[in-house]
Amino acid sequence: MRPTIVENKAQEPSNLAVLKFGGSVLQDAQAVHSAAHEIYRFVRRGEKVLAVVSAIAGETDALVAMGQYIGGDNNAPGSASLVRLGELRAAALLALALERVGLDARAVDPAEIDLRAKGDPDDAGLCGLDHDRLSTLLAEHEVLVVPGFSGVLDNGQPALLGRGGTDLSAVYLGVALNAKRVRLIKDVDGLYVSDPKLDPNPRRFTQINWDDAAEICGNSIQDHALDYAQKHDLRLEIAAPARGFDTCITPQSVSAHCSAQTNKLKVALLGFGTVGEGVYAHLQRHKDLFEVSGILVRDAGKKRNSDAPAHLISTDAGEVFAKRPDIVVEMIGGVDSADAFILNAFFGGADVVSANKAVMAENFDTLNEAAGRAGRALHYSAAVGGGVPMLEALDQARNGGGVRSVQGVINGTANFILDRLAEGCPFDQAVKEAQDKGFAEADPSADLDGDDAAAKLCLMARHGFDAPLRANQIAMQSLSDLDQEHIDAARNAGKVIRQISEIKRDDKGALKASVSLQTIDKDHYLAGAKGEQNRLIVHALEGENIHLRGKGAGRWPTAEAVMADLLDIHRLRGQYEEKLNVRVSEPACA
Ligand code: NAP
Ligand code: HSE
Repeated sequence: MRPTIVENKAQEPSNLAVLKFGGSVLQDAQAVHSAAHEIYRFVRRGEKVLAVVSAIAGETDALVAMGQYIGGDNNAPGSASLVRLGELRAAALLALALERVGLDARAVDPAEIDLRAKGDPDDAGLCGLDHDRLSTLLAEHEVLVVPGFSGVLDNGQPALLGRGGTDLSAVYLGVALNAKRVRLIKDVDGLYVSDPKLDPNPRRFTQINWDDAAEICGNSIQDHALDYAQKHDLRLEIAAPARGFDTCITPQSVSAHCSAQTNKLKVALLGFGTVGEGVYAHLQRHKDLFEVSGILVRDAGKKRNSDAPAHLISTDAGEVFAKRPDIVVEMIGGVDSADAFILNAFFGGADVVSANKAVMAENFDTLNEAAGRAGRALHYSAAVGGGVPMLEALDQARNGGGVRSVQGVINGTANFILDRLAEGCPFDQAVKEAQDKGFAEADPSADLDGDDAAAKLCLMARHGFDAPLRANQIAMQSLSDLDQEHIDAARNAGKVIRQISEIKRDDKGALKASVSLQTIDKDHYLAGAKGEQNRLIVHALEGENIHLRGKGAGRWPTAEAVMADLLDIHRLRGQYEEKLNVRVSEPACA
């Protein structure tokens, strides 16, 4: 099919974030997990993401050298076929990292969307794409990952876009799709008047105009990309991963004095099980932002997968709190001890991130009031939906006109077990498998009987309906009540059994909630949740219903949501501290 040549913006404004990750941030293969945090941050804000990636640092040079070694100099376009493999590999790795946390991500080869290049095979420009194909892929997936730096010539051969060409890929796609934002993510959090590594009192541009940007950027943004963005009046953001600051390229330049260094925050981990070990692994890759000051467990002698040093691990909460953490991450589960630890954290001046729906549902008001009194933050995104940002979607729906009802599969363990039972697995074995995979609660009866889903509904009621709901007001059915006859009948009828959690308002406006076992058609949206996956339908009072899906349980999806809360706190603290110092000057450039 011939491409729809796109030289102008798509007419429809979109809710799309184009995020470009350069080699300076993809320092090694593990760095794709940090890129995944950045993508998750925008997904949970309700934005669709198209990530454009460079090769992992050093790979392009290695491929160029290999091409010259085999083919000699002047070997384009043959060399383009080889060199573009660096970007393809980075895209595949990033898609895998996103899949691990449960995002519906798809790597897309530029040839698949006929991203058309023209000019020199090693320094080409872009001139068209198969817009329909790209739009279809965007509609089908939450995140697309496109390898930057190459396109396809009219003769079908690949061409490279010159040094820094991934910037051009991102800008070009951003213009073609009328993206809400195009964010070039690099190793420095914006454009500076002077080198922030050398200047003790650096000034970062909060905004910069095109001419000043072209002068200041040097090699940090590709010239062709800047020209193309200016020609199409595209607002560009220059940012670093995990940082709360950026520079926007806009018509006017404004710079501000700033502290280039954001303080490192001390983090105490309460609990070092399925979720805790995952969060620890992420924090190890962000030692510039966080330092783990202590880890609380029940049994210090337990064999663990993590290589955390023994001196950090303690069974003494007093010892862990004595390190004066800035943030306490509660991942022990249960109500009473967790409640006491969270209150203690506020008392000691720490912000709190919790993955624990039981304590949050039971003591929602007292914990939030305590946070407010102490002037501290309380985040608990991971408590509902694992890696599926359900509470955030409910906030957005409530603020955007209100929620009529919600209906979902919100317990991964129950869903996993129901699928295994339908496959003929014995009940006890299915429960054991869910425990071994790290999906189940410490006491799996909470998953089986509906208490875990009920606790989640209590939190969803707060976010979606701004109303209290107690677990004892929720009617529940237990998986233990299912008999083989019931399971066989559903299978023979080509249907599936799902544990479905619902909240709606009755005629008098009161909330009605339930956790029930329902036999539904295979093509029902909620039937599509497989294994530990969760799905949610938010019926909006106004506008379109929201459909969410992803991994609702397990180490990596849950650790992703915890990490997103930690990074939000870090960003907010940095922004607050900088506001205290900031002196804005205008215009920035002499
Ligand atoms: P887990 O694997 O059982 O780990 C719990 C950790 O907490 C263990 O390290 C345990 O110490 C420690 N612990 C428990 N009680 C303690 C106490 N009183 N004092 C000190 N340490 C204590 O649990 P998990 O799966 O990581 O879940 C943690 C929390 O995240 C729960 O609230 C759960 O509901 C929530 N969550 C879990 C998932 C998931 O998929 N697993 C998803 C979303 C939310 P030892 O290691 O010494 O036993
Ligand atoms: N046990 C819970 C579940 C963990 O299976 O859904 C995620 O909240």
